[in-house]
Amino acid sequence: MDDLIQSIDAAPDLQALDALRVAALGKSGSVTAMLKSLGAMDPAQRAAEGPKIHGLREAVTAAIAAKKAALENAELDRRLATERLDLSLPAPVCPSGSVHPVSQVLDELAEIFADLGFAVAEGPEIEEQWYNFTALNMPESHPARAMHDTFYCEPREPGEEPRVLRTHTSPVQIRAMTSQPPPIRIIAPGRVYRSDSDATHTPMFHQIEGLVIDKGIHLGHLKWTLETFLKAFFERDDVAIRMIPSYFPFTEPSADVHVGWSWENGRRVIGGSENWMEVLGSGMVHPRVIANCGLDPDQWQGFAFGTGVDRLAMLKYGMSDLRAFFDGDLRWLKHYGFNALSVPTLSAGVGA
Ligand code: DAH
Repeated sequence: MDDLIQSIDAAPDLQALDALRVAALGKSGSVTAMLKSLGAMDPAQRAAEGPKIHGLREAVTAAIAAKKAALENAELDRRLATERLDLSLPAPVCPSGSVHPVSQVLDELAEIFADLGFAVAEGPEIEEQWYNFTALNMPESHPARAMHDTFYCEPREPGEEPRVLRTHTSPVQIRAMTSQPPPIRIIAPGRVYRSDSDATHTPMFHQIEGLVIDKGIHLGHLKWTLETFLKAFFERDDVAIRMIPSYFPFTEPSADVHVGWSWENGRRVIGGSENWMEVLGSGMVHPRVIANCGLDPDQWQGFAFGTGVDRLAMLKYGMSDLRAFFDGDLRWLKHYGFNALSVPTLSAGVGA
């Protein structure tokens, strides 16, 4: 019997230990056979052998339990040793994405205008002509409609006026004025569509619209707002603007906004007043547009502005070809993309 206890102690693993348990204590095991033999003994013999055989069964059971615990502990130690992490090693290189410059600039714009009290408004990209043109003082015969290289949708049923892919974000002005009472202060960023394609034009691009409707609003408010916005966006205090008389059907008077730029180390940078380039369209909202939205233009006035988000990104971050924005080329995204964790804040500077 010492043999049995010895082989239990020597079992190399849980599987071998279990085989020994079955061989000793199983249905046809050696200890079980000894217990069965008690029945055939006469009482005197049973009294002598009984305690020994039961003692043996207990000793074997205890030896198996002890060995099992020892083997399990050894297995745990082995796993703990092999699964150890060396935290001093460099982290494995994970594939990482980046934030597209358009998304980055949209976040920057939202941050800047939120600080000025503007809410973000949205409208549909498939738009009714009334919102895209008519309500904006561009009636059907208006030549500006042809200027927009519009994509027209198939009518959904005969006789329906075809809807358009919105050619600008200005229809969101109309949606804002017809859905909420003034005063209104919104920006409306989003995708717009025109049938045009070259290095500075893509059939889909991004615009941002601004609209303020309130009482006693004048050109001075517009100029201050745009100056404040452009200084915050380009992160320079020496941003100078010029407002040049222009024409948009939905504003009167209208102004193109030019911003000063200069050469710095062979690069064009915004700031100073050596050269000028146009960055925005703007003006006082046309009284007819205010009336089209059901408001009294004698009571409510406002200003509006609109510009290309992609173009703002190009000016700030130095890309030269707009088409690359929408190619999905990973090398371009790696070069011009932004860290997903550096969210623009005014306190830390909106730029990345
Ligand atoms: N919607 C104009 C465009 O797409 C841009 C624009 C100009 C918007 C003047 C305005 C504005 O709100 O006042 O070219």
